[in-house]
Amino acid sequence: MLSVATSTRLLLRRHRPLPLTVRIRNISRASSNEISILDQRYEVDGTTNITQSIIAKLPLRLHNQPAHPLGILRSKIESHFHDFAHLSSVHPVVTPAQNFDLLGFPPDHPGRSVTDSYYINKDCMLRTHTSAHEVETFATGQSKWLLTADVYRRDEIDSSHYPVFHQMEGARVFKTDKAGIEGVKADNQSLSRYLDQSNIVIEDIPHISPTNPAQPTHDPVHSELVALNLKLSINSLLLKLFGGGARDAPLQVRWIEAYFPFTSPSFEVEILYQGKWLEILGCGVVQQLTLDNAGKCLCYSLFFARPHPSLGIPDNIGWAFGLGLERIAMILFGIPDIRLFWSTDPRFLSQFSENKITAFKPYSKYPACFKDVSFWVPEGGLHENDFCDLVRDVVGDLAEDVKIVGGLWSRGFFSLTSTAIDRFLHSSQDRSQERVLPDKLPVDG
Ligand code: DAH
Repeated sequence: MLSVATSTRLLLRRHRPLPLTVRIRNISRASSNEISILDQRYEVDGTTNITQSIIAKLPLRLHNQPAHPLGILRSKIESHFHDFAHLSSVHPVVTPAQNFDLLGFPPDHPGRSVTDSYYINKDCMLRTHTSAHEVETFATGQSKWLLTADVYRRDEIDSSHYPVFHQMEGARVFKTDKAGIEGVKADNQSLSRYLDQSNIVIEDIPHISPTNPAQPTHDPVHSELVALNLKLSINSLLLKLFGGGARDAPLQVRWIEAYFPFTSPSFEVEILYQGKWLEILGCGVVQQLTLDNAGKCLCYSLFFARPHPSLGIPDNIGWAFGLGLERIAMILFGIPDIRLFWSTDPRFLSQFSENKITAFKPYSKYPACFKDVSFWVPEGGLHENDFCDLVRDVVGDLAEDVKIVGGLWSRGFFSLTSTAIDRFLHSSQDRSQERVLPDKLPVDG
């Protein structure tokens, strides 16, 4: 039952002409109760909300293409943490337990909702962050590791948000015995010496404080040392990524108190870029629950053929960070729109080569144009993310921005059926505004 009309503005920007065939597609599951994802079949249920356009992204793994900006950035960060284990081929389907519960997310956390995350069924979802793999990676016994992967979140459409993006998780654990703690102190000294001679200005905050406390099971001295090691490690990474020469203006970094369910103390880090503070990553001292869960090897039966011999995770203390690769690559390569990362146009891809950061040169000769669409919404309402997924399934990466421009109207105007939307989009191919629907709609009389 349709009862309310709404009007939405799409900003369509094409990087090259597209074929005229655009169809509203939905996942085809009428004939079967299963869907196939990366060659594995999954049962669908009332929770299923993954779409075909998302399924199509799963095999692409842009971060594993060495001459793609995301692959180049990944290698650059990996070369900074050269003695860490580098993981980058972890399966994107996880359980809600891996994504949330094992990391201490509360049961009512909004990230769990079907409007925010892609569910395959009630027991399986696409990871929403690389932290979903912390427990299983710690459980292998790795003490220093980086894990890069594609992550999936239902989101609105604009030039800096896309439902698939790439994150890198980094972590390091230290033994809490005398030798382990002496090791942290020595590493802190050498990192501090390096940073003291570098062209960087750091606005710091206390490593632990009443509002950003050490964990009850941690010795506060150990927690301080590990938080300092985290800060020094991240500051030196930022210097590698964003630092200029000695004669350039110093890199400005600031540390901010944060909250994550899986770290305490927790921090966010920003850099000053073109006069604005930009958030680069989140990090903190790993919650002991995560290391305890790794020690219990809760994921063992799911992921590993045999337990790692050096498992002793509960006697460790460690730090972790998570960063979004697109956001950093957009700055370093000057890429203005997140959708460009998915381009297969040679005019995009041929601009980049392995191990080189080069400035992106725009190439599209098509100007952007606006299209307004009005349609009836279902009686129970329509979440903006549901509409954005529909738009993505119809126009793919043509839509740069989707905004509700007119709010909701009462019944009685007109409904735009899926066929009409389809025809409307065909007409958008000539980029004329003639067939654009009116901005102002008559109100029901
Ligand atoms: N997983 C977080 C996110 O997606 C980022 C993050 C924050 C990762 C803090 C961490 C961390 O490892 O310690 O927003």
